[in-house]
Amino acid sequence: MAPADLAAVNTVAAQVHLAHPEDAAVFAERLALHPAGCSVLEGDDGVAGYIVSHPWRTAEPPALNTLLGSIPAPASTYYIHDIAVLPSARRGGAAAAILATLVRHAATLADNISIVAIGGTLPFWQRQGFVIARDPKLDAKLKSYDADACYMVRKLDR
Ligand SMILES: CC(C)(COP(=O)(O)OP(=O)(O)OC[C@H]1O[C@@H](n2cnc3c(N)ncnc32)[C@H](O)[C@@H]1OP(=O)(O)O)[C@@H](O)C(=O)NCCC(=O)NCCS
Repeated sequence: MAPADLAAVNTVAAQVHLAHPEDAAVFAERLALHPAGCSVLEGDDGVAGYIVSHPWRTAEPPALNTLLGSIPAPASTYYIHDIAVLPSARRGGAAAAILATLVRHAATLADNISIVAIGGTLPFWQRQGFVIARDPKLDAKLKSYDADACYMVRKLDR
């Protein structure tokens, strides 16, 4: 992902995450803070998907639509902020492929990778090796994402 992709990334986000809109500044800040964690999926008609991720603190998923300020170093987790693929480009293995690459990058920075799973994607994340990490302290924050949102973690071999 390059800064020039951000307008297209926001267009994809607006189509995929109708219930979870985030300001353009959120994606721009993540890209500026950790470009190695941001990628786009090039489709025939331009950007068809993206992933945004960064080193972070375990069990502290940022509230939606908030800026990070800075990236912790060292990090206690590697956090996937968002992954989205346009419906027309789904089920082709794109998400699994970028996650395989991202896991190798994440393992250079933390011993686990984490995500807040929303929108019925729990089976997708389980297939990717993530397990639910229950923490009552997170309940209120998770509800702000989605009634069924859950914090999930996958241990990484380093
Ligand atoms: C979740 C998402 C990124 C998956 O992208 P994708 O490119 O279609 O995923 P892949 O084709 O790489 O699928 C990998 C595997 O997961 C399976 N899978 C994909 N989406 C799934 C889902 N929603 N539920 C269960 N399994 C799913 C695929 O069948 C595939 O299985 P296989 O390895 O046996 O072939 C996409 O559905 C999406 O953008 N959803 C809306 C945005 C969203 O909710 N993002 C997650 C935020 S937490």
